[in-house]
Amino acid sequence: MTDLAVQIRHELPGDADAILHLHERAFGPGRFARTAFRLREGVPVRLDLSFAALVGTLLVGSVRMSPILAGREQALALGPLAVEPAFEGRGIGAALMERALQAAREAGHGLVLLVGDQPYYARFGFEPVPKGRLEMPGPVDPARLLAAELVPGALDRASGRVLAMRA
Ligand SMILES: CC(C)(COP(=O)(O)OP(=O)(O)OC[C@H]1O[C@@H](n2cnc3c(N)ncnc32)[C@H](O)[C@@H]1OP(=O)(O)O)[C@@H](O)C(=O)NCCC(=O)NCCS
Repeated sequence: MTDLAVQIRHELPGDADAILHLHERAFGPGRFARTAFRLREGVPVRLDLSFAALVGTLLVGSVRMSPILAGREQALALGPLAVEPAFEGRGIGAALMERALQAAREAGHGLVLLVGDQPYYARFGFEPVPKGRLEMPGPVDPARLLAAELVPGALDRASGRVLAMRA
């Protein structure tokens, strides 16, 4: 197999259209009904904590972070994470996750939440949120509501409703 040089860099404002099309291919039209989507709706993406993967000039992956409140605790919602189907299984998802989590840690954030498959996200330190601890703005399978503590104890302090932080 040919090695492709993948560059991971911050998301830029001009990436928005390419990321929209990537989401269409990766998630399909049902994505708008997802609770994770509803949580992020209308919230500006933190470009400084969001990353794109490029092969040449082609955008092949994206991970985004948005500011949220988990009870009284400031936190980040991670997602969507998406990789172009033809480029899956080459470590691009993992590279995006690691860059985004590192950036969040360096920016002093303590807690990252996401809705997703634990078998994939466990490798990045995500664990299910204890049942009943956090209330999302729509239905979520509790086994898919995951958290990663970047600062020990941050999840213990988070309890109650999860809300978007709108500027
Ligand atoms: C999930 C996704 C981002 C992974 O991207 P990727 O670049 O293929 O990921 P990586 O190459 O870093 O990792 C691939 C590994 O993860 C595993 N994996 C992928 N999706 C998984 C899942 N849902 N559950 C468990 N393992 C999964 C693969 O089997 C592979 O395992 P291996 O390393 O043992 O071969 C990508 O498949 C994707 O965009 N899927 C559609 C959108 C989506 O579901 N996004 C996540 C929202 S929760």
